[in-house]
Amino acid sequence: MDIIPRIADLRTRLAGELVAFVPTMGNLHEGHLALMRQAREHGRCVVASIFVNRLQFAPHEDFDRYPRTFEADCDKLRSVGVDVLFAPDEKELYPQPQAFLVEPPAFANMLEGEFRPGFFRGVATVVLKLFNIVQPQAAVFGQKDYQQLMVVREMVKQLALPIRIVAGQTARADDGLALSSRNGYLSATERSEAPRLYRTLQAVAQAIQAGRHDFATLEAEAMEKLVENQWKPDYIAVRNQADLQLPALTDRLVIVAAAWLGKTRLIDNLEVARSDPA
Ligand code: PAF
Repeated sequence: MDIIPRIADLRTRLAGELVAFVPTMGNLHEGHLALMRQAREHGRCVVASIFVNRLQFAPHEDFDRYPRTFEADCDKLRSVGVDVLFAPDEKELYPQPQAFLVEPPAFANMLEGEFRPGFFRGVATVVLKLFNIVQPQAAVFGQKDYQQLMVVREMVKQLALPIRIVAGQTARADDGLALSSRNGYLSATERSEAPRLYRTLQAVAQAIQAGRHDFATLEAEAMEKLVENQWKPDYIAVRNQADLQLPALTDRLVIVAAAWLGKTRLIDNLEVARSDPA
């Protein structure tokens, strides 16, 4: 695997390659590695990036304590046959303060955007910049970050970028907890409590499949369940899969959630399988 910190060197290395790209912030786990394997199906040269993007963290968020595990990450990327790792430092990616910013449309201001103002601006800006540097023909994003995937898809569409965006399924621990770099913040007690988030989403999905359509009540009940167990939910929302707006009855649904367990903010989502044959 070639580890390349400089943009100019990366451009030389990738000239003429058909690239499938997986951007990450490092601290890689099995979920990331599954995205790397998936990328292999979409390009002859698999490129990963590791860059903890300050632009997408609010000043009070966890930028400074975000886990940085570069050597272990490199070993993992080698083990799944990644060809090139782009690993710029901040001076390389942001030599001047990044004043040109990508402002996502209004749907990025709800859900994650409501609780993390500016987050999707930071994500869209770095992803567009990484796309310009790497020039992939395809890029893989995990579905755990459901709204992020949607923001990236919409950016690619509206800015006519010639890049196929591929969704990677959420990898889960045996007890259902979605794999996330932030799981490493959890204490042992919190870690055993953490799968409740996914179980709560499953319970909402089952209720919908059993015929309940009172989504607001379902959301409130689910949040209450978490609160009873010492969580602080930001939101649990039943939404339309297509655009994350409030759903009509016939829409395909997804339940999205974000909740604090102690000092750790976890997010997850679950698409509701249709129970009718239609
Ligand atoms: O999902 C992430 O890890 C980040 O938001 C991304 C897409 C690498 C941009 O910094």
